[in-house]
Amino acid sequence: MKYYKFLDLPQIPDHLDLNPGEMMREFKSMEYIKDGKISMTSDVVAYQATTELQTWIKDNIIPEYKDVSIRFQYGGDDRTTNGVHTDKTRKFVLQYNLQHADGILTYWKEEGYPELRPEVEIRESGYDYSKLTKLDEVFIPNKQWVLIHTKVLHSVENLTGSRINVQISLDRDSFDNQ
Ligand SMILES: [Fe+2]
Repeated sequence: MKYYKFLDLPQIPDHLDLNPGEMMREFKSMEYIKDGKISMTSDVVAYQATTELQTWIKDNIIPEYKDVSIRFQYGGDDRTTNGVHTDKTRKFVLQYNLQHADGILTYWKEEGYPELRPEVEIRESGYDYSKLTKLDEVFIPNKQWVLIHTKVLHSVENLTGSRINVQISLDRDSFDNQ
């Protein structure tokens, strides 16, 4: 797998409780520069997934993981990106969109650096897009499982509203054979 791969896994049943629980982690909006203009990224908040959802995931998707969260990227209006970053606490994320908000997952390479950026900590600063080259981009529909590499710079662009997804943190590609 290079940056991401779609996986043929069961959809989450409609009757499960997908409501967000307690806040787990919060990533505050920050400044970035695009076309010479300073803008703000969306706030991103990770909430605890219900026990009901976690049990279903263990039984139907993957028995072992680091954590499961319901994430809100509060985009829309003038906040059209969640910000270019790598993930600090995981190497991969298995993701399932509940509300895609037209977002496009986009991978980037920063001028003067390799593609793989394990040393970059999440959201330590905003990026200047004039120093970034687009590597790949993909629209991920709702209810489609996708495994995402998180140690290459990435962002979700084109947010027209709040993007909501289930995220399962992993430190290895447990779907190597798919
Ligand atoms: Fe990320």
